[in-house]
Amino acid sequence: MANTILVGAQWGDEGKGKIIDFLTEKADIVVRSQGGNNAGHTVIVGDKKYVLHLIPSGILRPGKKCVIGNGVVLDPVAVAQEIKGLLEKKVKVSKNNLLISDSAHLVLPYHRALDEQRELSKGKGKIGTTKRGIGPAYGDKIARVGLRVSDLMQPALFSEKLAVRIKENNALLKTFGAKPLKFKEVEAAYLEAGEKLRPFVGNTVVFLHEALKAGKEMLFEGAQGTFLDIDHGTYPYVTSSNTVAGGASTGSGVPPHRMDRVLGVMKAYTTRVGEGPFPTENDALGDLLHGMGREYGATTGRARRCGWFDAVSTRYAGMVNGIDDVAVTNLDGLDTLATLKICTHYKLGRKTLEYPPTDARELQACTPVYIEMPGWQSPTHEAKTFAQLPANARAYLRKIAELTGAKLTIASVGPDREQTIVL
Ligand code: GDP
Ligand code: IMO
Ligand code: MG
Repeated sequence: MANTILVGAQWGDEGKGKIIDFLTEKADIVVRSQGGNNAGHTVIVGDKKYVLHLIPSGILRPGKKCVIGNGVVLDPVAVAQEIKGLLEKKVKVSKNNLLISDSAHLVLPYHRALDEQRELSKGKGKIGTTKRGIGPAYGDKIARVGLRVSDLMQPALFSEKLAVRIKENNALLKTFGAKPLKFKEVEAAYLEAGEKLRPFVGNTVVFLHEALKAGKEMLFEGAQGTFLDIDHGTYPYVTSSNTVAGGASTGSGVPPHRMDRVLGVMKAYTTRVGEGPFPTENDALGDLLHGMGREYGATTGRARRCGWFDAVSTRYAGMVNGIDDVAVTNLDGLDTLATLKICTHYKLGRKTLEYPPTDARELQACTPVYIEMPGWQSPTHEAKTFAQLPANARAYLRKIAELTGAKLTIASVGPDREQTIVL
């Protein structure tokens, strides 16, 4: 299968978890390289549903190795709980199939508290974060005051560093009028979680390079999506990591020239959870999808905002990620519609734009230019091959892949492993 980077080509929740699970069959190692437990990747196997937050979705396939790389921010208490939840569901998780980087940065309770306070203080201008402390944790990493997994593995050193960090952050929390944290409580909870994670911790960069030498094939499981990228997304309505393909290298230590392929995952329409500009947002489409019980967030349960397929943004995603081929998910969500709209350009004043403007306020001012395509108005969820899809559905899929500038290789017509069509 070659070393593949899988990225979300929209605003997250594209169905990455499902596609990762499907592709893991042919991979040896699945790597998470950025983000934290803000992610929620849903995988449905038979009658069981799993929502993975930080553990790579590859964990569900016996015999595959999973790596949490250096670029991730990790809440040890949440990871220990996620492992426990998987074990309770009879999924094997041990040091034989899960490795955690000793250089990953820790998410601490003051990160979560600050995330919440900053959101509150922004009022209507909030980002709509998952409140998992992701922004403040990456902030500390970049400011070089973060604590890492390797610190947690040395209890005396960890306690010493934690005391300093709690003091500074309590002073900061006080300015928001928020409750200070108790050092002893945080120390006890983190050291306990640290002991649970100890068997999994190691140098994942060396592990991955030895695997490369042995010819193992890797799948890089992107979290979030291109327009939540800290550099390329709709700043400041973004997450705090590089969600684009380049992040897979820095976040794992596997060099760019060892990556063979970039696969973009996109929905057949668009969704976004959280605030920020969304040119093709359409409430009627949202009502239809929510009415089907779909498009509720896997991490926070929030109803996702919904809209038409936006080829201006996926065209840009194709460019910044170097997407070779695309997997289109949730085609079945459009089964009942008589007419489908696809946004091919934006209008900004008198200008027609091929790519989204980088400024969020300009993007907010853009109006979409649509083409229309006839719907297929018949169920697609039982199709096993591309030929079994209605002609209008095939034409629609080809069109959105063509506008994105990539080859269509997978179409998904339902949440199950089996509901996946390979072209
Ligand atoms: P991720 O974060 O990119 O892994 O995506 P999420 O798991 O947050 O959200 C995608 C949702 O769509 C999940 O509920 C999946 O089970 C579901 N899903 C994925 N592909 C399909 C599909 O082709 N059809 C349907 N009906 N659901 C899908
Ligand atoms: P997966 O991997 C969709 C969004 C939040 C918010 C913004 C910043 O499941 O696709 P953060 O908590 O990261 O500081 O929030 O990013 N967001 C996601 N939206 N899918 C995700 O992950 C997301 N992770 C973060 O809703 O708008
Ligand atoms: Mg998700």
